[in-house]
Amino acid sequence: MSSLNLDSLEGLRIFIVKSSTARTVGDFGLKCLAGESGRLDVICSCIIAAFKLRNGIRRNVLFYAVLEGPPRPPITFEIRGWEVHDVPTSEVEVAKVIRDLLNVDTVCDPRYPGYYKYRMSFRDLVLALKSRGVTPVYLHEGGIDIARAFLPKRVAFIIGDHIGLPVEDERFLDKLGVQRVSLGPRIYLSWFCVALINMYLDGLWVV
Ligand SMILES: C[S@@+](CC[C@H](N)C(=O)[O-])C[C@H]1O[C@@H](n2cnc3c(N)ncnc32)[C@H](O)[C@@H]1O
Repeated sequence: MSSLNLDSLEGLRIFIVKSSTARTVGDFGLKCLAGESGRLDVICSCIIAAFKLRNGIRRNVLFYAVLEGPPRPPITFEIRGWEVHDVPTSEVEVAKVIRDLLNVDTVCDPRYPGYYKYRMSFRDLVLALKSRGVTPVYLHEGGIDIARAFLPKRVAFIIGDHIGLPVEDERFLDKLGVQRVSLGPRIYLSWFCVALINMYLDGLWVV
C-alpha cells in the first residue's frame, strides 16, 4: 500500500490536509472523537467541506488526508469524488469510515468505494503528485493573495491542521519552491479554507 494508483489527474480539484496528531490505528472511540483520535475531527470536517453539497457530492474533488500521528505513521487516505457512493454529513460518521479503514490491512475496502489507504508520508505524497505534473501550493495567511497568485491548471492545495504545518514540512515545501497562497490576513480553521477554495474555484467568490 505504498504508491498512488491514478490513471489521470486531469480537471481535478486536489486538496492535501496534513494532521501531525491524528491516530494511525483505529483504536479510538467516537464519543469523545477530538480527544481520543488526536483531532481526527479536523480532517473529517475538511472532508465534508471538500465534497458535500446540499444535494450531492463534488465529483471532481480528489482529497488526501495525511495522518502522521502515533502509533504507526504515516498513513495517507485518498478519497476520489467520482467513485465514492457517499460522504457522510457528520464528523463522527466520517471518522467511523476512517476508523474502519484503519482497521483493515488492504488499500481499499468494498464497504467504502472511492476510499484508498497508502503507507505514504506527506513529503512522498507531494513529490509523487509533483512527478505527475501537479503543482502544489501551500495555503498560508502570509502568502500571496489568492486573487493575485498564479494558479496553474493542475494544482493541489496544501492545508495544515489545528496546529498548522510543522516547521520541517514548511522548510521542505520552501526548498521545493512551493508558492504560499493567502486567503487573507486572518487565520481560519482548516475546513473553512477548504470551503473558501471550493467557493473561489466555483467562481462565486469575487474579490
Ligand atoms: C487553523 S489553521 C492553523 C493555525 C496554526 N495554529 C497557526 O497559527 O498557523 C489551519 C490551516 O489553515 C490554513 N490557513 C488558515 N488561515 C489561512 C489564510 N488566511 N490563508 C491561507 N491559509 C490559511 C493554513 O494552511 C493552516 O495551516
